[in-house]
Amino acid sequence: MTLEVLEHPLAKHYLSVLRNRATEPEEFRSAARRLTYSLVMEATRNLPLETSTITTPLEETTGFRTSKVVAIAVLRAGLGLLDAVVDLIPSVKVGFAGVQRNEETAEPIEYYFKPPDLAEATVLILEPMLATGGSLSWAVTKAKESGARSITCLCVVAAPAGVERMEREHPDVRIVAASLDRDLNDHFYIRPGLGDMGDRLFGTT
Ligand code: URA
Repeated sequence: MTLEVLEHPLAKHYLSVLRNRATEPEEFRSAARRLTYSLVMEATRNLPLETSTITTPLEETTGFRTSKVVAIAVLRAGLGLLDAVVDLIPSVKVGFAGVQRNEETAEPIEYYFKPPDLAEATVLILEPMLATGGSLSWAVTKAKESGARSITCLCVVAAPAGVERMEREHPDVRIVAASLDRDLNDHFYIRPGLGDMGDRLFGTT
């Protein structure tokens, strides 16, 4: 498994907006969208391209088109990354993975999984908070069972425990994150983290 952590100044800026407890949902959603542009650029660095001959106003040259990309948003926080993915890759097909975590054990309780056709696709799994790794590992397993071969996970914040679990259970995936944070608290929240991503995106408590 590879973990790539963004070093770009704009990524650090927008992550700080997300971390700040004073940031209200409207600004939080914009910062999540803007940060996701950097995550997508890094995640798709080696995306296969199809080539064709195109004609500029001056002459023929080689043109490039992105190959098939599928995004799977892990509900609900993954929705906060989806707008930027669809904006940058308009041809993307989108699936959803519904998982709720057991607040005592942090283990995932699955309630929904609906992917599009994954054959030959580069699959991006949108799971902003990689805490224990239970939800992300489950979503990756489901994607593999549905035929995914090339998987990159987009995380806003990753914790060492989640990274270690992904390394053990899915050594073949890539993770792109805006930060590798310190640890988890007793309730499995990431520290310093940004709190509950779903609640902060949607104004719930
Ligand atoms: N999920 C969140 O939204 N935040 C955390 O810190 C951990 C899991």
